Amino acid sequence: MKSTKLSMPSLKDARKRSKEAFETIRYKLNDNYKNIGDGKTYYIYTYGCQGNEADSEMMSGILEGVGYKRAVDPMKSDVVILNTCAIRDNAEQRIWGVLGQLKGRKREKPNMVVGICGCMPQEENATKKLIESYNFIDLVFGTHNRHRLPELLAKVYETKTKVIEVLSSQGNIIEDYPTHRESSYKAWVNIMFGCDEFCTYCIVPYTRGKERSRAKEDIIAEVKNLVSKGYKEITLLGQNVNAYGKDLGIDYTFGDLLYDLDKTGIERIRYTTSHPRDLDLKTMQAMHDCKSVMPQLHLPVQSGDNRVLKIMNRKYTHEEYMEKINKLYELVPDLSLTTDIIVGFPGETEEEFQHTLDLVKEARFEGAFTFIYSPREGTPAAKMEDHTPMEEKHDRLNRLISLVNEGYLRGHERFVGQVVEVLVDGESKNGEGMMCGYSKHLKLTHFKSDDMSLVGKIVKVKVTEAKTWFMIGELCED
Ligand code: SAH
Ligand code: SF4
Ligand code: F3S
Repeated sequence: MKSTKLSMPSLKDARKRSKEAFETIRYKLNDNYKNIGDGKTYYIYTYGCQGNEADSEMMSGILEGVGYKRAVDPMKSDVVILNTCAIRDNAEQRIWGVLGQLKGRKREKPNMVVGICGCMPQEENATKKLIESYNFIDLVFGTHNRHRLPELLAKVYETKTKVIEVLSSQGNIIEDYPTHRESSYKAWVNIMFGCDEFCTYCIVPYTRGKERSRAKEDIIAEVKNLVSKGYKEITLLGQNVNAYGKDLGIDYTFGDLLYDLDKTGIERIRYTTSHPRDLDLKTMQAMHDCKSVMPQLHLPVQSGDNRVLKIMNRKYTHEEYMEKINKLYELVPDLSLTTDIIVGFPGETEEEFQHTLDLVKEARFEGAFTFIYSPREGTPAAKMEDHTPMEEKHDRLNRLISLVNEGYLRGHERFVGQVVEVLVDGESKNGEGMMCGYSKHLKLTHFKSDDMSLVGKIVKVKVTEAKTWFMIGELCED
């Protein structure tokens, strides 16, 4: 297939950071494209972080705004979009697998438009491979131009070529776009985009551009609107939410935002992700003071060894991390703390890995996402020497997981006998006649009921049993 290359990714450009102000684009539908989806269906596959989930809700809203209807079966859809993740090699392998399936389908249904977007196309080599080896793909775009989807689809229909537009700019902020939220009681709320941390292993600063915060007025208005529609819970999103506001040059930080959002009447506020270096006292104080800010925090530590933390460019030490969380435990004594950990970073020794195990014990984590280091092309760590055999890395991961699982169980056991408040999600996969939802501490809780009218409501559940991955309880009569 011929291609129309509007722009191609460049890791070199993606690395640049300037003081220039970013552009805020108020989304307005161009009349030329307002009916391009009439009579057609779409389907979006979403991989990766909550940021991608929020982006998919945006693209769904935009597509529905130009006439597309959501397809039930992706293989029967007129437009199929893969919103991808590039964080580790296994995330990418999954995408190549789905592309393999779509290739067969496209042969049977040549009019189907296949698009790929998100973080993978932002990588030079991934886009090269997408163009060279996956000739059936019609549209390749990235993270900075997802709002241009109607224009890009129109270009595919019009030129009948493969259309590629991946911008390696520092990014923009899009406001006032239509969105199709997947839930009617829990919502993602982006507060900032991009990342300037440049941890040496991580691709995100290259795929998502520089740190840029939304205006607080826009965020507060969005949350007030959600409250008026009956939403119960919001999760504030950003790669480093604790850096909120720093780029705006105003005296207003993430802690201030928490206090202001607490006043909107939303029942539950969560946020992800925090960077330990930027987690400040005001945020901790807000967690103590604001009733709506949930007693739960995901604070990725990555390693417990100071040498490894340094070469990861994390900008804190084992001791500084412990000092911060101990302060937080003082202010929020029932806090449920979770984390992310990478094992097998280039050069990590057994002794250094032991320091990670030590920290896991000291920090009283009640859960962790654990990963084996995956080299990402273009990042500094990918060039570091790495002599640890993969077998050894798997062994470290397994030892870490056993320890982390003790924390999951402990985190559930401490609620046995207590009454917790659960925001009900629906039927549980844990057996017939059971429903489930999450408690304030973000513990998955199952209870006996078949009353679907409880979905989206907060109910009281008395916890009777703790398992590693969830708690079981009984619905309390009010
Ligand atoms: N912005 C967040 C999380 C970003 S990605 C933060 O700073 O914490 C989520 C997690 O993926 C990271 O916390 C890290 O543990 C893991 N990760 C990122 N890059 C990785 C890589 N190259 N190999 C293995 N794990 C990685
Ligand atoms: Fe990646 Fe580090 Fe930024 Fe998190 S803070 S997104 S790990 S560079
Ligand atoms: Fe993945 Fe991009 Fe999110 S790499 S984790 S989808 S920011």
